[in-house]
Amino acid sequence: MSLEAVVLVGGKGTRLRPLTIDTPKPMLPLAGVPFLTHQLARARAAGVEHVVLATSYRPEVFEAHFGDGADLGLRLEYVTEVEPLGTGGGIRNVAGRLESDPDDPVLILNGDILSGHDIAAQLELHRSSGAAVTLHLVEVADPRAFGCVPTDAAGRVAAFLEKMPDPVTTQVNAGCYVFARRVIDAIPTGRPVSVERDTFPGLLAAGEVVTGYLDSSYWLDVGTPAAFVQGSADVVRGLLASPALPGTTGESLVLGGAAVDPSAVLSGGTVVGPGARIEAEAQVQGSIIAAGAVVGPGTTIVDSIVAPHASIGGRCSLRQVVVADRARLGERVELTAGARVWPDIELPDVAIRFSSDA
Ligand code: GDD
Ligand code: MG
Repeated sequence: MSLEAVVLVGGKGTRLRPLTIDTPKPMLPLAGVPFLTHQLARARAAGVEHVVLATSYRPEVFEAHFGDGADLGLRLEYVTEVEPLGTGGGIRNVAGRLESDPDDPVLILNGDILSGHDIAAQLELHRSSGAAVTLHLVEVADPRAFGCVPTDAAGRVAAFLEKMPDPVTTQVNAGCYVFARRVIDAIPTGRPVSVERDTFPGLLAAGEVVTGYLDSSYWLDVGTPAAFVQGSADVVRGLLASPALPGTTGESLVLGGAAVDPSAVLSGGTVVGPGARIEAEAQVQGSIIAAGAVVGPGTTIVDSIVAPHASIGGRCSLRQVVVADRARLGERVELTAGARVWPDIELPDVAIRFSSDA
């Protein structure tokens, strides 16, 4: 019996707008390949052979890229929710495609997590603890955006408290679960269900064994622009080993067909996508310059995302900025933390207003 996995990829990626207007979050390129490739490659390396993607938002983008999954050595299937069914509803909605027996383990992944944890060890703990569900847990400094998961001394989950203003612990749900197949079949059908708010609290109330697999390896939810660009830089620099990295680790990753002027400086895990152009004396640090984008001469870009076919003029300065697809910035534009330029926008006038030497 081969191991199978469900990946939840139906979210709208709201916090990454406008990058996610056309491209769902798991399909945004991170370290040179669509984000989901890193997760699928890691799952494959852990022995997963059959994957069902639970899609909802822009499902066609996934299938157009990954097809039947053969390139990754996987059997890949797609199931699309007509209306978003939430995390639990999305898992239940793919149950008809699963081949596992009632007590077999099924791996479930949130589709926006970069993780170096040992999936095989999590599966082994699931088996040895006889759990209904085994949750990957991590410690974070600020747990408010996550599901808090207190455990007892034996590692048994005591409660599941999704996104509390006053978290009871810094130990949180890391978004990778092992479910006994029968638990998936028991989720109600045809209506939205949240694993975090319904299924996990329900299992605990029913006295089922829910186990925590606490781990301290690399872990990041890439759901915001700052986290996404951080994750990309970390993979390029080798802080997290990814079997899907299309090159070797180092200060930068320049993909085939990109043109980088010899006087330009790329650092901090910057990636330059296929067909992109970096002109003379540009400095790009810890950033993603996507396919076909242009960075003009003398421009500085730090911790930013420049989407496919966007163009940035000469002597600009961008720090912690998102420039969406095909947007065009003029000369000497200065943009800082939180600025987001929408697709196809042209910014020549703003260039004058924000001119660095005005
Ligand atoms: N198919 C489907 N349908 N997928 C969905 C839906 C849906 O209706 N809603 C969300 N998803 C997918 C998203 O695409 C994402 O991959 C995953 O479910 C989690 O959604 P997020 O929107 O990223 O949730 P979060 O980051 O706020 O919180 C979740 O992850 C945290 C860890 O990063 C929760 O599971 C938290 O408990 C957890 O701590
Ligand atoms: Mg998330």
